[in-house]
Amino acid sequence: MNSSPASQYTWAGRFSEPVSGLVKRYTASVAFDQRLWRHDMLASLAHARMLARQGIISAQDLADIERGMDIIRLEIENGQFQWSIDLEDVHFNLEKRLTALVGDAGKRLHTGRSRNDQVATDIRLYLRDGIDGILALLNAFQNALIALAEREAATPMPGFTHLQVAQPVTFGHHLLAYFEMFLRDGERFIDCRRRVNRLPLGAAALAGTSYPIDRAFVAAELGFEAVCENSLDAVSDRDFAIEFCAACSLFMTHISRLSEELVLWMNPRVGFVRLADRFCTGSSIMPQKKNPDVPELARGKTGRVHGDLVALLTLMKAQPLAYNKDNQEDKEPLFDALDTVTDTLRIFADMLTDGVHIRADAMRYALQQGFATATDLADYLAKKGVPFRDAHAIVGGVVKAAEQKGAALSELALAELQAFSPLIENDVFAALTVEGSLAARNHIGGAAPEQVNAAILRARKRLNALLA
Ligand code: ARG
Repeated sequence: MNSSPASQYTWAGRFSEPVSGLVKRYTASVAFDQRLWRHDMLASLAHARMLARQGIISAQDLADIERGMDIIRLEIENGQFQWSIDLEDVHFNLEKRLTALVGDAGKRLHTGRSRNDQVATDIRLYLRDGIDGILALLNAFQNALIALAEREAATPMPGFTHLQVAQPVTFGHHLLAYFEMFLRDGERFIDCRRRVNRLPLGAAALAGTSYPIDRAFVAAELGFEAVCENSLDAVSDRDFAIEFCAACSLFMTHISRLSEELVLWMNPRVGFVRLADRFCTGSSIMPQKKNPDVPELARGKTGRVHGDLVALLTLMKAQPLAYNKDNQEDKEPLFDALDTVTDTLRIFADMLTDGVHIRADAMRYALQQGFATATDLADYLAKKGVPFRDAHAIVGGVVKAAEQKGAALSELALAELQAFSPLIENDVFAALTVEGSLAARNHIGGAAPEQVNAAILRARKRLNALLA
């Protein structure tokens, strides 16, 4: 038994004074890494089974470890487990309790392993589950997006450049732009998962271990695709976590664009959508207010996820090989990014399912106010032989006249239009209406409702191919 003044610590054999309360708090991670307990237990059990199989511990030891872990699992699930900051982290907390429950077998669990390969394994297992959760939610969210796009496949809305009305699109077409962004996000998460799914255990502290371990067995037990090939790399690099935060950051960037549009669209001056009350809150002073809190917060939370990425990049930068305690700081940003993306997806899937109500009349009004078919008139003239630049100038004059008159382009009389070019005939109105403008953009990727419907069919298939 260790009788040094610091003997409460597992590692205290060579220490002659205890750490201060402040240092204890500063160095402990149990407050935030206890959420790894289930994965820590899974990894420990796989390690113990391997040790027994290899004859490194006895079958009785394994049975004791398994029995002890069952008890601990119940204790934690029932909220009876006593987490202790004196035991630093999740690993020591579980190991100490196991030893208290089953004695020496608990002390043998750590044979051929270090907390360095242990924690790297736990994070990878935890993150793998987290990514799978995100992918399932992303699937639900994308399906809600596609369903809304399908309902509004032919609903004209102004497309914008510079936030000024540009040309007609449909609301469905607009939403499908987001489908593309989020589909790429899904690809990034899946790609990242491949590199997360590697087993560090066996690397021990940094150099491997002298015991006759079987890493492939542990990898198979835990569902890892392969082992990390180099022990120093296995315990020290966190690039998989950085990649994950990068994927989260891009996802949130895309969410922030959609959020910004929702905020804009539900402003009464624009009025393209109404957001269900359950995603909004009121003001403590202004009784008339209904604020789009959910999209605003999602826009704001994008900042914290970008911060998580920068934190991890900076944490890893210039760390010498192999494990350094710096890496204990990887968890909070990683968990924060995971939690934020998970909650955001949950709430947005719900919001897009039945929380966004479209106001087609407001969109049509904005199209007319913005002379959205002006390009179509220029194209009409160009197709009749007028050089496009000249056609552009002619239509500029038409827009000016319509503006002065307070009329939409399609509301001008044929004679008024012909004053600008004798080439204009009665068929011009097919080009000037929103429906005519949309129908004309009839190619893959274009805004014609026919194309939007075809794109929706493809979107469903592509989503299933990626996420189902
Ligand atoms: N709590 C530690 C972490 O999160 C576990 C590994 C500690 N390893 C060590 N050599 N002190 O990184």
